[in-house]
Amino acid sequence: MVTSSPTAAAASSTPPGPLDLVIFGGAGDLSVRKLLPALYMAHLHHNLPEATRILALGRQDWDRGTFTAFIDDKVRGFIEPEALEDAAWTAFKDRLAYVCLDATQPGDFAALGAALQNGSDRVYYLATAPTLFTGICAHLASANLIDARSRVVLEKPLGHDLASARQINEEVGRHFTEAQTFRIDHYLGKETVQNLMVLRFGNTIFEPLWRSPFIKSVQITVAESVGVGSRAGFYDGTGALRDMLQNHLLQLLCIVAMEPPVSLDPDAVRDEKLKVLRSLRPLTVADVARDTVRGQYTAGSANGDKAVGYLQEDNVPPDSTTETFVALRAHINNWRWANIPIFLRTGKRMAERRSEIVIEFADLPYTIFPDAPRQPVNRLMIRLQPEEHVQLQMMAKEPGSGMRLRPVSLNLDLESAFSARRAEAYERLLMDVIKGRLTHFMRRDELEAAWTWVEPILDGWKNLNEKPKAYTAGSWGPAASSALMARENSAWVEES
Ligand code: BG6
Repeated sequence: MVTSSPTAAAASSTPPGPLDLVIFGGAGDLSVRKLLPALYMAHLHHNLPEATRILALGRQDWDRGTFTAFIDDKVRGFIEPEALEDAAWTAFKDRLAYVCLDATQPGDFAALGAALQNGSDRVYYLATAPTLFTGICAHLASANLIDARSRVVLEKPLGHDLASARQINEEVGRHFTEAQTFRIDHYLGKETVQNLMVLRFGNTIFEPLWRSPFIKSVQITVAESVGVGSRAGFYDGTGALRDMLQNHLLQLLCIVAMEPPVSLDPDAVRDEKLKVLRSLRPLTVADVARDTVRGQYTAGSANGDKAVGYLQEDNVPPDSTTETFVALRAHINNWRWANIPIFLRTGKRMAERRSEIVIEFADLPYTIFPDAPRQPVNRLMIRLQPEEHVQLQMMAKEPGSGMRLRPVSLNLDLESAFSARRAEAYERLLMDVIKGRLTHFMRRDELEAAWTWVEPILDGWKNLNEKPKAYTAGSWGPAASSALMARENSAWVEES
């Protein structure tokens, strides 16, 4: 057990000496698709400290040759071809080692100990099922592999509900202090999400309007065109609410809705986000019935090709009632956001991949233009992906003799405004871990506050015992999602 809290220096600087980055689940999906490519990019751009080694842990009994062949075969494909340089790739592989370890077997941790560099700083990245987190931390502690300079990274989903999240936090907290614990939400590592803080707090023009009564509604969409793919084993027991809304969407909402933090200090930012989560109006069963929509995709199309329905996907039980789409209306009970509906939605197999925040400003109190369209007047649209841009929709006079109004946009294209390379979220966050920067990681109380708000929705759905509403793959979700907006005299951006 770590008794002394690490000093600020230990927790927020790049380790000067050798560093071992240990990935539990090192041959797993996340490691192959995201972590190792991100580390390669950091290596390529000389951002990894010199004496960094990466230890991938897995249960397969592989020798170095097999592991290297696996890396060549699987990981290269997830790196942009133009970033693949032979010399850099070879040097990157020299940093890598594989250790066969079953995370449930305390006896296996001696092999890990033997593979670590003498006196190294250690980052333990737990890219495994959350059910393994507490055991891994306990076994690391028993094998004496944790000291005050060690850091642990916890992948989402961190638990299944409030109780399991608390239990994980409690158990992990026996071995790592809060300053050593990095709860990852990769949305917080996206360039555009970080830019949202700058949009709000690095400019003066929006802040006076960023409140009731000047804002009519907020919509946050994270739409994916992909289906469940090969992840049904995980996804079917999880669903869209736990997989996406509880973490990514609520984190986006926190950044949109928080008060200006006093600084970028991790706790200053996280204190403000926590206040947002604690101000979310709790949903009763009646609210859940009225203000939430669960959906599940049926056969349709995806990117121009035919797509099967969720129930026909590999490894999905034919009677599954797991939601692949959720939309809901939320409210934040504070002065800034009083009575402003906040609409959140996310889903798989939607019409396109698009993550976007739309701030809809208040209607005109009165119009002198008889031909004014009935659509919203001013909107700030912040597109996070696939492309990054900010648009401010304004009304303009259509050329001609009459006084006809039409919406036009002021466009800020962030990709062409800055030519510098944009690091992927995981690369940025991994570098933050190495440097001990906690600002873009979730604190324990934040995570628990998010579960506190989400859990009644899960309970409400259980209580209502309704099947998810069908929506065709390639659409924007069930009709009930549009109706949810219409009741508030609003519409999702693609419908307005
Ligand atoms: C993950 C979810 O956290 O985020 C996946 O588990 C989802 O289901 C992914 O596909 C989306 O991330 P991104 O960065 O592609 O928007």
